[in-house]
Amino acid sequence: MIEKLNGIKEEALKEIETCNDEPSINNTRSKYLGKKSSFSEVMAGMSELSPEEKKEVGKVSNEVRKDIEDALNKRFIIIKNEELNKRLEADKIDITLPSRKKIPGTKHPLTMVREEIEDLFISMGYDVVDGPEVDSDENCFEKLNLPKSHPARDAQDSFYITEDMLLRPHTSSMQVRYMTAMEEKHPFKMICPGKTYRRDDDDATHSHEFSQVEGLVVGENISLSDLKGTLECLAKRMFGRDREIRFRASYFPFTEPSYEVDVSCFNCGQKGCNICKGTGWIEILGCGMVHPNVLEFCGFDHTKYQGFAFGVGIERVASLKYGVTNMRDYFTNDYRFLHNFNRKEM
Ligand code: DAH
Repeated sequence: MIEKLNGIKEEALKEIETCNDEPSINNTRSKYLGKKSSFSEVMAGMSELSPEEKKEVGKVSNEVRKDIEDALNKRFIIIKNEELNKRLEADKIDITLPSRKKIPGTKHPLTMVREEIEDLFISMGYDVVDGPEVDSDENCFEKLNLPKSHPARDAQDSFYITEDMLLRPHTSSMQVRYMTAMEEKHPFKMICPGKTYRRDDDDATHSHEFSQVEGLVVGENISLSDLKGTLECLAKRMFGRDREIRFRASYFPFTEPSYEVDVSCFNCGQKGCNICKGTGWIEILGCGMVHPNVLEFCGFDHTKYQGFAFGVGIERVASLKYGVTNMRDYFTNDYRFLHNFNRKEM
């Protein structure tokens, strides 16, 4: 019996050496140690042995079983290691390769300018309001004191959607919306940044889509000096502390008096350069004292209230501030252009 057991062991150890995957290990285990194995057969014969023999055969059988188990386990670990090494070899990563460059997003220059203007006016207590880009003829023109015959109402200049709905040609329509919507008329300060549309042929200095910030302040005893002080703050904030502004008389139907405002040239210190076209001054916006008709059309008593208003082009400010010479750059989303505005906060 002992011989038989040793024979089984020898045979098993030989076979284990040839195993090279997990199923063959399992098969070999059941072949040599399982219920129907020759080992079990030998063990079944134990009952016929004398106690002396039983003791001896029992000891050998335990050793044989243990040796076979140990050999199986050892072989199993070797197989697993080989498998792992094979997989690692196949999945080899070259850690010396340079990583792929991640290109971080940046704020659009128009967003940066808009936010800067918003921050300034919020700090002065203004509401920032938003309104629809499609608005009525009444809000865009009629209540802004633009008579029916006014050239700005020509369908050639604006994108009409129906006879009396159009893409707003300026954010001034928000003056009307804001004042008309107010139930109990009271003093207020607001700005409205937003997109505007005109039937312009796109070129380096024109775009059919552009953006403005409208400003409107209504209250008692509001005067031109309030407007001047406010716009001085705006010019200094956008173009530098040393900037000065000047008012030139102009005409807008919704303001009386009306002005165009120039800022002293930030590029040449007013010596004259190509940005200010040799004049030392750069035009930045239109403004004026709200026309009494506009106040009345929107339900404000013009004998009690006065107001000032202004409208500034965001692309214009951004172009001056950042030296952008082609308007189209704002809308084509070319990374090489946008990347210039990747301001890093340290
Ligand atoms: N709406 C004018 C434009 O688009 C700009 C403007 C001028 C707005 C004078 C105003 C203003 O509020 O008072 O050119």
